[in-house]
Amino acid sequence: RIVHVNGSFLPEESASLSIFDRGLLFADAVYEVTAVIDGGLVDFEAHQQRLRRSLGELDIAFDPEAEDLLGIHRQLLQRNDLREGLIYLQISRGVADRDFVQPRGTPPSVILFTQALPLLEAPAAARGLRIITRPDLRWHRRDIKTTQLLYPSMMKSTAVAAGVDDVWMVENGEVTEGSSSNAHIITAEGQLITRPLSHDILHGITRAAVLDYAAEADLEVVERPFGVAEAQAAREAFATSATAFVTPVVEINGHPIGDGAPGPGTRRIRERYIARSR
Ligand code: PDD
Repeated sequence: RIVHVNGSFLPEESASLSIFDRGLLFADAVYEVTAVIDGGLVDFEAHQQRLRRSLGELDIAFDPEAEDLLGIHRQLLQRNDLREGLIYLQISRGVADRDFVQPRGTPPSVILFTQALPLLEAPAAARGLRIITRPDLRWHRRDIKTTQLLYPSMMKSTAVAAGVDDVWMVENGEVTEGSSSNAHIITAEGQLITRPLSHDILHGITRAAVLDYAAEADLEVVERPFGVAEAQAAREAFATSATAFVTPVVEINGHPIGDGAPGPGTRRIRERYIARSR
């Protein structure tokens, strides 16, 4: 694989970053994951906007506009001949001797790499996800896309060790989101229920796209929190993310959702999402 580090394209074996990088020592870094379908980037501009916001919230001095990130993304796709998968971009505050006080004026570290993945024909899309719930013990600025992913990684591992696919995290009796996806349900009345944007969840790019055209799939969008019992009683449930697109959820804590198979509402939304993304 050819990767990108601080302005250079090079083979992954030759790429390196300082052991004093703030991203490594403090998770003092933000990231974006952009899907690639048919060799093209999905929602690049929306990811750029969220990146700018994350950088601003953490006061990391990197101007995405000035850096031709689109050009770098495109070159990386080309050099790796990537048709389907993702591009990962991470920007840390840079390199400084270890100190809790954030340094000023360090040049940010920028890394990008690609991963080839079967996104369109992902097995989970056909089968549906089995979910368990766990308390949401993350910090309270989940709207900033930082690399502090220890807890979500523990939760995903817990799910896999329990023989299921993922965790939906719960706070004050309400579902926040999945370990790396937003959570949604469809009621018997045809309402698409999704938690409103706040500091409690990541402002998903896929979530926003789905809400934009939900009406065309005959779904009325209602942005409000929902609990685990309501999700278990829903007609359908699904998760959204850049790499999962729209993936059905067929079981929560051992309880089947609807008839326990991926539902028609979720299928319509997934098909529409893929159609508008390619
Ligand atoms: N994760 N919520 C969390 C906690 C996430 O980590 C993600 C994405 C989402 C969905 O956001 P979007 O639709 O913009 O991808 C929601 C990425 C894919 C990841 O960490 O790999």
